[in-house]
Amino acid sequence: MRLGAIPRGVVERIAFALGLVPTPLLDSIIALLLARTVMVATRLGVFETMAGQPRRVEDIAEQCQTAPAATHKLLDALVGAGYLRLRGGLYSLAPVARRWLLKDSPWSLHDAILMQFMDEQFIAQMESFVRTGAPIEIHEHMTPETWEIYQRGMRSGARLATPEVALRLPAPRDARAMLDIGGSHGYYSVALCRRHPELRATVLDLPEAVTAAAPLLAREGMGDRVVHRADNALTADLGHDEYDLILIANLVHHFTAAQNRDLVLRCARALRPGGRLVIGEVVRPETPQTAGQIGALTDLYFALTSAGGTWSFAEMADWQRSAGLRPRRPIRLVTGPGGGLQVAEKPRS
Ligand SMILES: C[S@@+](CC[C@H](N)C(=O)[O-])C[C@H]1O[C@@H](n2cnc3c(N)ncnc32)[C@H](O)[C@@H]1O
Repeated sequence: MRLGAIPRGVVERIAFALGLVPTPLLDSIIALLLARTVMVATRLGVFETMAGQPRRVEDIAEQCQTAPAATHKLLDALVGAGYLRLRGGLYSLAPVARRWLLKDSPWSLHDAILMQFMDEQFIAQMESFVRTGAPIEIHEHMTPETWEIYQRGMRSGARLATPEVALRLPAPRDARAMLDIGGSHGYYSVALCRRHPELRATVLDLPEAVTAAAPLLAREGMGDRVVHRADNALTADLGHDEYDLILIANLVHHFTAAQNRDLVLRCARALRPGGRLVIGEVVRPETPQTAGQIGALTDLYFALTSAGGTWSFAEMADWQRSAGLRPRRPIRLVTGPGGGLQVAEKPRS
C-alpha cells in the first residue's frame, strides 16, 4: 500500500511514464492540503451533517456554525478529493466518508483523525529532530486534554485490527491471566476476554493514560475481568510466574533496543511455564528498500516522537530468545497495515 500520484487518462499516463509529472509537488502541497481538509472537515462535524440526507451548503454551514462561502470551498474540495458527492446543489457522503468518518459507524476512525491534529504538531518538529537528534518524547509533554485525544484516537484505531488479533492470537489453552502492557483503552484485552471466557486481564499504562482511558474501558462493561494498573512499563515489577498471556501492542516502537530487551526479560519472568508473550507492532522490514513508503515513514515518525522506531520480526524474536523464550513464526496481520504479531512461548521446564 502506498500514497501517491495516480494518473488519469492516456495523456497523463504517458506524461507519468515519461517522468514529466511533478510528483514532489503532489507529495508536498497536495498531500498537506488533502490531510488538513479531511481533518478540518472531521473536527467541524461536516460529515455528520450529511449522515441522514444530502444537504445544501447553507444548511451545512448553519449546522457547523461556519462561514457559508468558505464552507462552500471546503465542500467542493472534499468533492474533488472523493469524500463527498454533489448533485443538483446537494452534497452527500461518498462511501469512504460514510464508512470511516461518521462517529457512529462501526468502522469509525473519527477519533483517530482528530488525533492527527496532535501528529501534525509533532511532524512540524521533524527538521529540528534531524538537526539535533533530540526526539520529542511525546509522553512526557502531554496535557490532560491531549492525553484524552490520544487515548480516544488509539481506541478508534484499534477497531481496525482487534477482531483479527482476537481471532488469530494463539493464546494458551485454558489461559486465565493476561497482562496488556501499554494497553491504553484495553480494547485488545476486552476482545480476548470475550473470546476466552476464563480469561481476566490487567491493562498496564502510565497514570495519565489510565485517567484518560478509564471511561473508554468502562463503556465495554467488563467489570473486574479487565482492570487498569497505573505504572511505568520501563520500571514496573511485573512479578514471577503470574500470567498465561502477555500482550505488548504498539508500545515497543516507543522504546530503545536496550529498554525493550529489559522489558521482554521482565515479561519472561512474569509468564508461567507454557505462557506466551505476544508483541504486536507495525513491523519494520529488514531493509529500507523493502520497507516501502508506510514502513519507512512510520520508522522516522516513531524515532521523532519517542526515540524508538519500528522493529523487525527478527529483532523482536531476538529479544525473546535472549530472555529464554521460544519465538514462533511471525503472524502478519491483514487488517492492520504493516502490522504483525511476534509470539514466543516460555518453556515448561
Ligand atoms: C501507541 S499507544 C498503543 C495503545 C494500545 N496498546 C493499542 O495498540 O491500541 C502506546 C501506549 O503506550 C503507553 N505508554 C507509553 N510509554 C509507556 C510506559 N513507559 N509505560 C507504560 N505505558 C506506556 C501510552 O500511554 C499509550 O497508551
